[in-house]
Amino acid sequence: MGRRDEQRAKGKQARAEQLAQELARGTTEHYVDPLLYDLEYADQHDDVDWYGALADERGVGKTILELGAGSGRISIPLADAGHHLLALDRMQPMLDHLFTKLDRLAKVGEPVSGTIEPLLADMTQIPLADHSVGLVIAPFNCLMHLYTWRELLACFREVYRVLEPGGSFGFDVLLPDLDWLRWDPHERHAVTRFEHPRTGAQMIYSTNHEYDPDTQICDVRIYYDDYDLEWDGLRPGVKPVSIVHLAHRQIFPEEARALLGVAGFEIESHTGDFLDLSLSSDVEVQVFVCTKPTKP
Ligand SMILES: C[S@@+](CC[C@H](N)C(=O)[O-])C[C@H]1O[C@@H](n2cnc3c(N)ncnc32)[C@H](O)[C@@H]1O
Repeated sequence: MGRRDEQRAKGKQARAEQLAQELARGTTEHYVDPLLYDLEYADQHDDVDWYGALADERGVGKTILELGAGSGRISIPLADAGHHLLALDRMQPMLDHLFTKLDRLAKVGEPVSGTIEPLLADMTQIPLADHSVGLVIAPFNCLMHLYTWRELLACFREVYRVLEPGGSFGFDVLLPDLDWLRWDPHERHAVTRFEHPRTGAQMIYSTNHEYDPDTQICDVRIYYDDYDLEWDGLRPGVKPVSIVHLAHRQIFPEEARALLGVAGFEIESHTGDFLDLSLSSDVEVQVFVCTKPTKP
């Protein structure tokens, strides 16, 4: 191997190591503090209602598997409506928090009427028997944590395997927005003051992001800065208290449709924003309902 080839190989290895590090952070850091997670998404309800309606239509009397169930933002309301869920996630702190919330509801005399069982696992290797569930859901971008098309296909194949024939698979992921992805990676956005739910400290939340069009991975950085009463905003140059990375791989519509087809699914609907909208540049979220055919 010549010197140039050696240098190129070293550069490639360094980039691969950097990417691996970025992904390890980007798939965990946002999910180690479930109280903070719950606070950040407390106002989001459209998806809860949509998955509730899907469960009422297709999951009654069946086992519903939720991939990336997290702290139960979706699964608790579904169980409260009487459904039986398997909550799969690979982050123990999120699942622990889900069960703390269930215990709290039981203690105040408001237990959910259905059931939730935890499943600590990776969604590309689902530890369930073939044809064992009637409905699978994967809400709120959890599939964007699968960082190659091979991982996404592995997950679709696992969902297909565990679903009973005729069973449905509903999920949502962001519709890639190329304008947004190209925003200045140094500028901060969504600057919001809040009180930290654990420490009670007054803080400022803000984000920015950087997109790699080759891997399709967007590295979102969430900054938590101290709130300074004399300076109602971010002080330039002052280091944040912490920076949390969230790595999301963009899933383009044709890629998803192709991989679902390869896995054997029929796509019933592919619409926008939980409102049945046609996909257009105004839409933020692409929402899929797929079926496993009764005959392969
Ligand atoms: C955005 S959260 C969604 C949580 C919950 N469904 C909600 O809507 O609030 C994504 C969840 O997916 C989980 N996750 C990411 N990659 C995963 C994987 N490969 N296998 C299992 N869970 C995964 C994360 O730990 C996290 O709890």
